[in-house]
Amino acid sequence: MKRVQYDRHGGPEKMYFGDYDLPPAGDGEVRVSVNAAAINPLDWKLRQGAMKLFTGRRFPKGMGTDFAGIVEAVGGGVVDFRVGDEVFGTMDFKRSGAFAEAVLVEAAHLAKKPPQLSFAEAASLPIAAMTAWVAIIDRAKARPGARIFINGCSGAVGALAIQLAVSRGAHVAGACGPASRESARAAGVSPLFHYSDSQAYTRQGTYDAVFDTLGTLDVGHGFAMLNPGGVFVDINPTPARLLRGVLSRRYKLAFATMGIKHLPAIAELAGNGTLRPAIGLEAPFTDALSVIADTEAGRRTSGKTVLTF
Ligand SMILES: NC(=O)c1ccc[n+]([C@@H]2O[C@H](COP(=O)([O-])OP(=O)(O)OC[C@H]3O[C@@H](n4cnc5c(N)ncnc54)[C@H](OP(=O)(O)O)[C@@H]3O)[C@@H](O)[C@H]2O)c1
Repeated sequence: MKRVQYDRHGGPEKMYFGDYDLPPAGDGEVRVSVNAAAINPLDWKLRQGAMKLFTGRRFPKGMGTDFAGIVEAVGGGVVDFRVGDEVFGTMDFKRSGAFAEAVLVEAAHLAKKPPQLSFAEAASLPIAAMTAWVAIIDRAKARPGARIFINGCSGAVGALAIQLAVSRGAHVAGACGPASRESARAAGVSPLFHYSDSQAYTRQGTYDAVFDTLGTLDVGHGFAMLNPGGVFVDINPTPARLLRGVLSRRYKLAFATMGIKHLPAIAELAGNGTLRPAIGLEAPFTDALSVIADTEAGRRTSGKTVLTF
């Protein structure tokens, strides 16, 4: 079988199509034949070695985390999935490799694919939706009437965060770049600011939560935008941001890994139309190397980029 893999950390030139084998599904594991796999910033950050403290030095490493496909085999103790089920899910970032013909994952990292969604739409959801869930529902505690500001409201995480917040009755304001204004307005963000206008973010009041999807909002400025008791939610911690934030009870981190338990609820919301995946480009797996490199270089589409098999 073929997958996208690399033998050393580094840039896009390190990726190649390699042969690999999967062991039989062990206890609690499910083997899935992949129909679609979505590209996330996490994929190239892992390849660049940004998390090598956690991922170790064993190579080759497979690339890709989010996928959708059909169950081929189940291991002992798996009761929620059967051979032939249509599923979607995400691989643990320490053993990624979803840009591949088949994957072996823990059953806890899977959910049934809503029949209303294509494989590509389902594959586009896990990391972005789990992160948005942890940020907006678990950390920001979105509720009717809450005022939430989203910095970077038009990316994969930001767009789903708006939908989750609005579904909970919250009011969403935010900031985006010029190319994203139309989609952010259509999603209901109001008022909507340009990043260069950050001093105006509180012109129409302060917020119960500020969610920075990009890691570009000054943490001190974010704190100044909060109502008493409000929280600043960060998904791009750096040592400097952590230092600034960790001393404050208003600073909250959110990670996709904390959201795996929400995958079945995310499937339900996507099935009933509350969460609406946006696909910008579907490309064949055979083009994976150039498509991943272009996405990493910042090629803009109207949604997620998904590889199809
Ligand atoms: N902590 C975690 O577990 C976790 C999980 C997921 C993501 N993250 C991180 O959060 C950040 C955002 O992730 P993301 O998946 O939302 O990234 P993304 O989809 O690439 O969006 C990032 C920004 O790119 C611009 N953009 C919007 N649509 C675009 C498109 N179609 N093509 C190219 N650029 C587009 C937008 O900014 P403009 O306003 O400028 O248009 C958007 O806010 C990344 O740094 C990622 O690594 C962290």
